[in-house]
Amino acid sequence: MERLEKILSLSDPVDTMADIGTDHGFVPYTFLKEKKANFAIATDISAPSLEKAKALCSSWGSEKIQCRLGDGLAPLKPGECQAIVIAGMGGNLIYTILQEGMEIAKSCKYLILQPMQAVDFLRENLEDLGFYIEKEDMAYERGKYYHIFKVFYNPGLCKENQDPYRAFLKDKSPIKKAWIDYEIKRLENLSSFIKKAQDPSRQEEKLEEVEKKLLKLREWLDEFC
Ligand SMILES: C[S@@+](CC[C@H](N)C(=O)[O-])C[C@H]1O[C@@H](n2cnc3c(N)ncnc32)[C@H](O)[C@@H]1O
Repeated sequence: MERLEKILSLSDPVDTMADIGTDHGFVPYTFLKEKKANFAIATDISAPSLEKAKALCSSWGSEKIQCRLGDGLAPLKPGECQAIVIAGMGGNLIYTILQEGMEIAKSCKYLILQPMQAVDFLRENLEDLGFYIEKEDMAYERGKYYHIFKVFYNPGLCKENQDPYRAFLKDKSPIKKAWIDYEIKRLENLSSFIKKAQDPSRQEEKLEEVEKKLLKLREWLDEFC
């Protein structure tokens, strides 16, 4: 599972980690297995999901893992964990969870965020909340690309470095280049689809947005070559 491996590889060892929206519990299970944490808190808003995590993680015992039901960061107490993972949810939901749980999120050494959609929204708004994007990596699994952010709370650093794409462009890895190629093709197809539409003038705003993104991606591609 490349996505999980990348989440792990971005994570420094901590005493206690929390996985928000744990579902099957793979994330905390693997943190404990790989000795990235001594103790894990697995949370989910859904009781049936949390039951899956309880079943998978039962072999670790209560001295290693606790499963808690609840919304976002509400099941956590400030200072209780040093790392938080929020993976496999939409970027808007991740943003809301952080906004509503600022006190908890601020107190962590780092957070790993892996949005499924609204990636640009999350990236462009994280630093407004004061979460500095230290690293951005990508994973490719079952025909899909995933962006993974490592962030920590430091509003001063966010103000000094106001480019949310800085971390993406910093490490020019082959997977990022492959994603840029893929995204250019996808947007080129979308652009020609819009141009062929019955009333293209109604789609002007959308076309402008697609062309703007394409311009930026083509510039990046030159940098990655
Ligand atoms: C697709 S699963 C992701 C599982 C795992 N984190 C991963 O990346 O493989 C999304 C999980 O988030 C949970 N979830 C959705 N909204 C939530 C919220 N506000 N607070 C906590 N968990 C939530 C869902 O119940 C579901 O189990």
